[in-house]
Amino acid sequence: MSRRKRPEELRSHRWLGVSDLRSFGHRARLRQGGFDADDWKGKPVIGIVNTWSDINFCHTHLRARAEDVKRGIWEAGGFPVELPAMSLSEPFVKPSTMLYRNLLAMETEELLRSHPIDGAVLMGGCDKTTPGLIMGAISMGIPAIYAPAGPQLRGNWRGEKLGSGSDAWKYWDEKRAGRISEDDWAELEGGIARSFGTCMVMGTAATMMAIVEALGLTLPGASSIPAADSAHPRMCAASGRRIVDMVWEDLTLASLLTPPAFDNAIRVHMAMGGSTNAIIHVVAMARRAGLRMDMKRFDEISREVPVLANIRPSGDLLMEDFFYAGGLRAMMAELKDTLNLSCMTVTGRTLAENIDGAKVYLRDVIRPFSDPVSSAEATAVLTGNLAPRGCVMKPSAAEPRLLKHRGPVIAFEDYNHMALEVERDDLDVTPDHILVLKNGGPKGGPGMPEWGMLPIPKKLVKQGVRDMLRISDARMSGTSYGACILHVAPESFIGGPLAFVQTGDEIEVDVPARRIHLHVSEEELARRRAAWRQPEPRYPRGYGALYSAHIGQADEGCDFDFLAPLGAIPEPEIH
Ligand code: FES
Repeated sequence: MSRRKRPEELRSHRWLGVSDLRSFGHRARLRQGGFDADDWKGKPVIGIVNTWSDINFCHTHLRARAEDVKRGIWEAGGFPVELPAMSLSEPFVKPSTMLYRNLLAMETEELLRSHPIDGAVLMGGCDKTTPGLIMGAISMGIPAIYAPAGPQLRGNWRGEKLGSGSDAWKYWDEKRAGRISEDDWAELEGGIARSFGTCMVMGTAATMMAIVEALGLTLPGASSIPAADSAHPRMCAASGRRIVDMVWEDLTLASLLTPPAFDNAIRVHMAMGGSTNAIIHVVAMARRAGLRMDMKRFDEISREVPVLANIRPSGDLLMEDFFYAGGLRAMMAELKDTLNLSCMTVTGRTLAENIDGAKVYLRDVIRPFSDPVSSAEATAVLTGNLAPRGCVMKPSAAEPRLLKHRGPVIAFEDYNHMALEVERDDLDVTPDHILVLKNGGPKGGPGMPEWGMLPIPKKLVKQGVRDMLRISDARMSGTSYGACILHVAPESFIGGPLAFVQTGDEIEVDVPARRIHLHVSEEELARRRAAWRQPEPRYPRGYGALYSAHIGQADEGCDFDFLAPLGAIPEPEIH
């Protein structure tokens, strides 16, 4: 164990521990809050970065849970300070929370830097909040621990388990096909989201919480605890206790985020059948930690680790079932021969120690290697003349017939164009067609919205068609499914090859060979490129303009060019 810090080495000492006019003011203001020197003197100040909001029902409980975190911090001899941060409510924030992930990362970093904070408990869970908080904390560089919001309870409709998002898409198609009534649809609306907590399928939220645990940044098992379970406030209090010691030990994220830790996280991602969105976030987090990481690493590991978690959309069950089956500790115990167990974690112990004794209790939920949920991989990264810098797909959530397919294209210039066309009863489309959506990327969306699961044209839905190949530079929700090829890079808005695809072209996709090819001659593509004009920027001013000027492409993790580089930022001057 390395040397423990002395109180005068705490970052907060510069604000609170010295004797000058400014520190007098800081201490006087703490007394204004009803605190005495006994409350703060010589103690680590712990910032609780809380993404609670009245309009983020995935985080409703975080207001109360922050009090549990504070309890733990007080118990361990720290001084808690709650710092509200933007919440990024996935259902309500438009055009996409992805537009704001980097803003949350920047806010987290600067909240921690500008205040007298020695360590942080990060509270989030709804999709982009996890990577946003972690990216900011990595760049800030002080000790931090993640307290995940946890999944909500299973949905229920007439005794049938409902999964967030996944069953909304499924029953929307049933309604479009005339197989369920308006009354059925209204009843579903009341049963699909029954408690606070994040989406309870293997969407981006559950995937990212599991990845962050696999990186070693949460207490063991934290990511699988349902938000409504009494184990959740206990985990929050324990996270509060632990961060105080992490400060004394100076246990920073940089020391935990090594290449083997990221490989562990990607292996867990594959075994969980995780969301494709995680690829962008993991690349971004790794680069913030100064590591070289690209999408290819996902593809390599996807060939080694099958999907073991029987959770929708790749499987049948939900995160509540996963918790009862033993949760992520049990899943990692199942994977232990493939993991680097010597990686250190926020507990101050190794991954091996954290998962010691973990067992799988429900074999249908967490499958053994010999009986995976799907023989198809959770992630495939394809390249070719349509996506020179890559694109991604989730083969385990697609109909197998579409993994090797050549077909004619129907191309849409933007989302509104597509939304009108797919409802037409006279659309000239067959199940072998390939739908292509342009201008859904980081700059084109803007913010790379989750438009990538293009609706199956209504005419085909009525015929019973439930999957077809769809290609875009957008993302798709982790709750989505189907043969959707996403994150095409470079994107069409900046003149990537997707911009030149026309209705009637043919595209060939060969997932086993990791290949995607637009069957148009080089000469014809050059002619189309010469005639192409870049669309006008979407934002004339404000954050959107900043975003468009600095956002990276999907294969780079969509970070800002001024946030991604390493480099020490001086501590704020106090005068
Ligand atoms: Fe918050 Fe899905 S809407 S996690």
